[in-house]
Amino acid sequence: MSTFDLATMQTELSGKNPRKILKAALESFDNIAISFSGAEDVVLIDLALAIRKDIQVFSLDTGRLHPETYRFIDKVRQHYQIQIELLTPDRELLDIFVKQKGLFSFYEDGHQECCSLRKVEPLRRKLKTLDAWITGQRKDQSLDTRQNLQELEQDGAFGTPEKPLFKFNPLLNWSSAQVWDHIEAYQVPFNELHGHGYISIGCEPCTRPVLPNQHERAGRWWWEDSTKKECGLHAGNAKALS
Ligand code: ADX
Ligand code: SF4
Repeated sequence: MSTFDLATMQTELSGKNPRKILKAALESFDNIAISFSGAEDVVLIDLALAIRKDIQVFSLDTGRLHPETYRFIDKVRQHYQIQIELLTPDRELLDIFVKQKGLFSFYEDGHQECCSLRKVEPLRRKLKTLDAWITGQRKDQSLDTRQNLQELEQDGAFGTPEKPLFKFNPLLNWSSAQVWDHIEAYQVPFNELHGHGYISIGCEPCTRPVLPNQHERAGRWWWEDSTKKECGLHAGNAKALS
């Protein structure tokens, strides 16, 4: 990592376009990775590869993704000829959880426990090895939890004072339409579920298609309140609320 001043860089990146933010991210940090799961993240991969060929990409394989999503991950791998590291939950912790609570406890007592095992713990393991990560979060994905996103943040949820971690959100100011314009214009691969009414796609039991005019995240954890629709990957967002 070249030395940089967080506040200066935040000011420099404020309001900049995704390519400029990504370029600054990839030039400032060698040990940086794209956190990949959906349409936004392939756009990031597409843009990043034009800046630097040796990008790191990882995806959280919760074991509960749609078959279409697994096909999509592999399509992206082949299309760009890149490696995608799949992070899986800790076997022992998962065994205990499933023995105790079965496979669908989130419908009864909320998604936090399952997400923390299947997503947050593997993510934490990965982030310990990185200096910075890049996400596809956008402000307009949630009026409740994503309005305070910044181009560059110090990740207080996964980093520590001894080992700081930085988080870039290059698409924060883009709308969904801008993402899809890029996908169409540059023939970027996408998840075939988008052709079946799905917009924001997570795990299969916790995602459903949305109706016209419904908010894009209405199909995620639909049985829960919109202020709880964060799974812990972006814990700082939820904290911003309290
Ligand atoms: S979530 O927290 O509700 O699941 P969302 O689906 O909106 O997140 O995605 C926001 C960003 O989080 C994505 O652009 C991606 O960077 C990261 N992300 C979400 N799910 C995953 C996953 N399964 N693997 C890797 N990164 C993910
Ligand atoms: Fe579990 Fe649903 Fe969270 Fe996936 S989204 S980890 S299935 S609670």
